[in-house]
Amino acid sequence: MSESTAAARSRQFDRRLAACYDEFKWLYCELYGQTEHFQQLLDAARQFFIHRKSALVKLDATREKDPDWYRRSDMIGVMLYTDLFAGNLDGVREKLDYLAELQVRYLHLMPLLKMPEEFNDGGYAVSDFRQVDPRLGSNEALEKLADACRSRGMSLCLDFIVNHTSDEHDWAVRARKGDPEYQARYQCYDNYDIPRQFEQTMPQVFPNTAPGNFIWCEEMGKYVLSTFNPYQWDMNYRNPVVFNEMACNLLFLANLGVDVFRIDAVPYIWKELGTSCRNLPQVHTIMRMLRILAKLVCPAVIFKGEVVMKPSEVAPYFGPVDKPECDVLYNVSSMVCIWNTVATRDATLLRWQLDTLAALPREYTFVNYVRCHDDIGWGLEEESVRYLGMDPLEHKKFLYHFFEGNYPGSFARGELYNYDPATQDARSCGTAASLCGVQAALEQRDNGALDMALRRDLLIHGLILSQSGIPVIYSGDEIAARNDYSYKNDPAKAGDSRFLHRGVFSWEAAQNRHNPDTVEGRMFTGLQKLISLRRGEPLFDADAAVHTADCGNPHVLVLVREKDGRCLMAVFNFSESWQELTTPLVGGRWVDLISGDVMEGSIGWMQPCQMRWLVPQEETK
Ligand code: GLC
Repeated sequence: MSESTAAARSRQFDRRLAACYDEFKWLYCELYGQTEHFQQLLDAARQFFIHRKSALVKLDATREKDPDWYRRSDMIGVMLYTDLFAGNLDGVREKLDYLAELQVRYLHLMPLLKMPEEFNDGGYAVSDFRQVDPRLGSNEALEKLADACRSRGMSLCLDFIVNHTSDEHDWAVRARKGDPEYQARYQCYDNYDIPRQFEQTMPQVFPNTAPGNFIWCEEMGKYVLSTFNPYQWDMNYRNPVVFNEMACNLLFLANLGVDVFRIDAVPYIWKELGTSCRNLPQVHTIMRMLRILAKLVCPAVIFKGEVVMKPSEVAPYFGPVDKPECDVLYNVSSMVCIWNTVATRDATLLRWQLDTLAALPREYTFVNYVRCHDDIGWGLEEESVRYLGMDPLEHKKFLYHFFEGNYPGSFARGELYNYDPATQDARSCGTAASLCGVQAALEQRDNGALDMALRRDLLIHGLILSQSGIPVIYSGDEIAARNDYSYKNDPAKAGDSRFLHRGVFSWEAAQNRHNPDTVEGRMFTGLQKLISLRRGEPLFDADAAVHTADCGNPHVLVLVREKDGRCLMAVFNFSESWQELTTPLVGGRWVDLISGDVMEGSIGWMQPCQMRWLVPQEETK
């Protein structure tokens, strides 16, 4: 880079800094007081901007002019594990054509940074935030993949694991050897006094697979906070060095070409005695500071927060509209309500949840999904469940038993996750296809049940494609991949049933994807059709107005989308029987974009597990 370019970049940095300096400094001092660390961070950020490659700076400029770039109907996402999908990063690059068949514009690669050999929580235990795990490739391969994605208009999303490092991370190694500077980057205690106090108010994340929030480290002679697994040590964000180092790690990855950061387990990063150590105000200060830093150095980058909390606790992570924190959040509550509806065939809770979402500012963007690499936690709004006359705990038990296939008439084949005998809480695992009944139908060679299961699977994917935000498909679901039980033979995985839905992608099965007479083909071509329709329809943009409509039939959900004086009705029958909708249709004839059916007067009969996308007919002429 020439001196004059560097100087110009530096000036541009100054201009950006001038716009946010006061707020940034204020926030920093709130957490860390007046300290030289602030200036050190700014100096480092400036260097990251100076060295950001020009293709990325160009992208920054394009996206600054088009801040809605990730909110249009053509943002279709896929999330996948590099190794399971294609062996390594070069393999993923070679398979981008496959993703293009689904018109994917957002690719989330599961954790791929250096991690311990065996116990690594699917990569969520990071040993080096600046190094791709050699088993998956190299930094160069990541950069090459990012370049290839960019040239196809695909953005690349990586996890940024903010809460913890692996116990093999250099900091942990030095801390174990007794270096106090590195011990200060974690939360270490000489005796159990403070840990005991924490345990009184801190819930457990993995009560079954990793009970307790602290581990005893013999080598160090100290207790260490490890909220997740024992080999994942929580970082100490009261230490400005930790914040600065992590912020720089993020900027480093952004400069390799990462567009979207999935900020892992955000709510957990600040701990305070006497609290649940979740969602504390300081977490928002940290998120806001990271957001400001990204705007300074890499404005093309957006943040997706992983906030798996009660609905009311999720929205605050967007931050105030004029001081945003996360750009995108996971729509956990829709996901849970979708599965609830699959089991109950009653869309009431889902409807309420969708209307709650619709009441949020339209700037709030969600990732909508059916399945991901994690379990389904049954965090339904208890009040709503009670209002419907059900006991929340009994209903939760029904759900997890239903999805493990342990309930009369259940078509699902899943497994329990972290069953806690004390609270009787449990979550559920399994692939979408297995939970929808595809696996059971194939086992029983029941073609009728198979047809229904595939309709169900397409129906719920159709629902996420009908919502505002970014629909993200979990790799394998597009070909109705079933559960993979091989994890039980691997001691590092056997205790964690989430590996049930983390199987190797079958390229052999994927060969059937264009043949609609196969399971894979029905799902793939069905999804392809819905995706194409969605992409071409601005009514699916995130700025459309959305609400549900009462159709008088609890088995059926009607979602209405409106924009620029136009309207689309998405209708979903969650039951296995025909359902009639007699509510009058206003304004003449309507046509179903999916089947081409035309209706007048009322929607009439919906087939079992059928969905329709209805628009007034004159529009389609
Ligand atoms: C997130 C991940 C999950 C992981 C946890 C700890 O919740 O989705 O897979 O176990 O963080 O990093």
